[in-house]
Amino acid sequence: MSNKHIVVIPGDGIGAEITAAALSVAQAAAEKCGCSFTHEIKQAGGAAIDAFGVPLPEDTVEACRKADGVLLGAVGGPKWDNVAPELRAEKAILGLRKALGLYANLRPVKAFPALAGQSPLKPEIVSTVDILIVRELNGGIYYGPRQEATMIKGIEQACDSEVYSRPEVERIVRLACRAAISRKGRVMSVDKANVLATSRLWRKVAAEVAADYSQITLDNMYVDNCAMQLVLNPGSFDVIVTGNLFGDILSDEAAVLTGSIGLLPSASLGDGTGLYEPIHGSAPDIAGKGIANPLGTILSAAMLFRYSLGNEQAAVMIEKAVDQVLADGYRTADIYQQGFTKVSTEEMGRQVIARLR
Ligand code: NAD
Ligand code: IPM
Ligand code: MN
Repeated sequence: MSNKHIVVIPGDGIGAEITAAALSVAQAAAEKCGCSFTHEIKQAGGAAIDAFGVPLPEDTVEACRKADGVLLGAVGGPKWDNVAPELRAEKAILGLRKALGLYANLRPVKAFPALAGQSPLKPEIVSTVDILIVRELNGGIYYGPRQEATMIKGIEQACDSEVYSRPEVERIVRLACRAAISRKGRVMSVDKANVLATSRLWRKVAAEVAADYSQITLDNMYVDNCAMQLVLNPGSFDVIVTGNLFGDILSDEAAVLTGSIGLLPSASLGDGTGLYEPIHGSAPDIAGKGIANPLGTILSAAMLFRYSLGNEQAAVMIEKAVDQVLADGYRTADIYQQGFTKVSTEEMGRQVIARLR
């Protein structure tokens, strides 16, 4: 792993705190492996609106294109909620996903043995959870034709449209099938084919793609049922493949199974630079207090090593250190229970570094 270079985008809210902790862990892990990488910090989101007047400066996009990987905190917050829609802080992340062609968002949801008692669900239900949510990230209702609120015949209306094409569905389902081969071999395609035309296309194409893979089984589930099954019987899922909006919602729900949304990492992959970020947002309610859980971002850095820096050793080292830090009883506020050691964002990062081996 020589001459690797990453871009770090802290973003807004807790972004600066969690990326600082994750960057320190990544640097320490690289050092332990006898390698290193360089990094540069770039702005996006509300921070970029404040500094440059736009949520996603071209300079940030260019730096990301050239880099081997991007580590992102989160963007957005109430300060920028009332700007023009095209200037919203969230446009930064949507624009980056499009500019980098990041069509596949991998969101692994795995129970941490040490946190089995932390979920609001019973430990015996959550302890078997090991799900990979494969969320389509470059299409669907997020990017379809849109009409902001306007007066039509005296009534205010707005419109968002969901569009999916065969190639878009094919590539994401193919990726999910390949991922399932090295797991339990089960893919659950989640849609709303009883209502939506895009879902009926999705279901048809998914069946055709899955037919190419004799090692996997493909099942279909409506998204409303899936939302229920995720809390009723989460251990029954292996790989879930779904569209952009359903994947967004189901992954926040699934996060609860692990104990906190602050624990979940993600990798956004396409044909170029990969982007790594926790699945949560900028958490404005706790920003600047030093109490945010950095583990989702630290685990995103592990995914960065795995998928973009070609360094599986560093990835596993970080994942094991996170398991150990939880086993040793360290807890940020979101996962704290009496009898455990409460630590700040920064201290959690230091404790992970102390366990890298
Ligand atoms: P959020 O994920 O920021 O917060 C939801 C709840 O989870 C809050 O109570 C928050 O304190 C808690 N939480 C989130 N991350 C945590 C962590 N690491 N440690 C401890 N607690 C944590 O969702 P929201 O409040 O709906 O959104 C806030 C802003 O973030 C919005 O502007 C939204 O658009 C944006 N957002 C950005 C991204 C991204 O950049 N990828 C993702 C989601 C939301
Ligand atoms: C996420 C976020 C984003 C999304 C927002 C901030 C655009 O919720 O990464 O999960 O909806 O994709
Ligand atoms: Mn989300």
